[in-house]
Amino acid sequence: MPAWLRGAVETLIDGEAGSALAEASSRLTASYRDGKASALAVAAPIDAKAYLAARMPATFAAVSAALDEALRCCPGFQPRSLLDVGAGPGTASFAAAELLPGIESVTMLDHNAAFLALSRRIGGESPSEAIRAAAIERADIAMLGDGRHADLVIAAYAMVELRQDAAARFALSLWQACDGLLLIVEPGTPGGHRNLLEARRALLAAGAFIAAPCPGEGECPLEPPDWCHFSQRLARSRLHIRAKGASAPFEDEKFSYLAVSRRSPDRAGQRILAPPLETKAGLTLKLCTAAGVRLEMLPRRDKPRFKAARKLKWGERLDA
Ligand SMILES: C[S@@+](CC[C@H](N)C(=O)[O-])C[C@H]1O[C@@H](n2cnc3c(N)ncnc32)[C@H](O)[C@@H]1O
Repeated sequence: MPAWLRGAVETLIDGEAGSALAEASSRLTASYRDGKASALAVAAPIDAKAYLAARMPATFAAVSAALDEALRCCPGFQPRSLLDVGAGPGTASFAAAELLPGIESVTMLDHNAAFLALSRRIGGESPSEAIRAAAIERADIAMLGDGRHADLVIAAYAMVELRQDAAARFALSLWQACDGLLLIVEPGTPGGHRNLLEARRALLAAGAFIAAPCPGEGECPLEPPDWCHFSQRLARSRLHIRAKGASAPFEDEKFSYLAVSRRSPDRAGQRILAPPLETKAGLTLKLCTAAGVRLEMLPRRDKPRFKAARKLKWGERLDA
């Protein structure tokens, strides 16, 4: 997270006793792990603060990584307006404003009073005028009206909180509000992947172009128990370590995502679906291609290709 955001979060949390924050964080983690929605997991201001300390760094990192990949597939896309659906404390808006400083207007929607209050306070510290002036509205995102429009629409870790059969309907309501690019980020679990597959089918039928991560628009070639997900490593701050009672100075956030566009994107290349495996012989990449999933072995002796591929990470594209 950028320095201003870390600072704003630290200031908000400063007055809380370490033990209260750690207890609230472990309650929150357990609630999300049990599949509870934020309406139950984040009931009091201390729970929302625990979210800032324990979850926001990871969801910020995941949204930034997914949006970055989506934007690579949409060269020239310069959104001016952003709609953040299920905004929580504003995480996705803050991440988008870092990557897209041309955004001029931001709307955040959520129904959780504790989160809405925090997003207002944190956003007030942002260097982005659009974030400082954001419209922060209480709304039920399961019943998005069709009056809203934005160039960029993001729903981060929100679909997972709706009814199990709501993915397709929710995706279509997001698409209706979207004039440019729609990004949906979900937890990197089989359930998150399943939700995104439902959304993908509905969005393709509605005429959307897949921007990322898929290299094609055919049926997803992954067969259960495999599922499409990625991982973003993030450094843990002292506050993050304290809230989580953790010892490692970093964590790996697993996430799944789908980005769809109104315009035909640049989908050249093949998506790396797992951590590249380096051996004495060379580098093996698990690739999603328009023709299915395959393993590509790049021998060390093929120096230029090996050297270029070695810099690539899980989630990035291997150019054709
Ligand atoms: C896990 S949080 C994610 C917050 C933020 N997008 C992030 O990535 O950090 C899910 C958010 O969705 C919101 N949400 C879930 N169901 C909702 C509904 N029916 N209407 C409005 N907001 C909802 C919750 O209040 C919560 O803020």
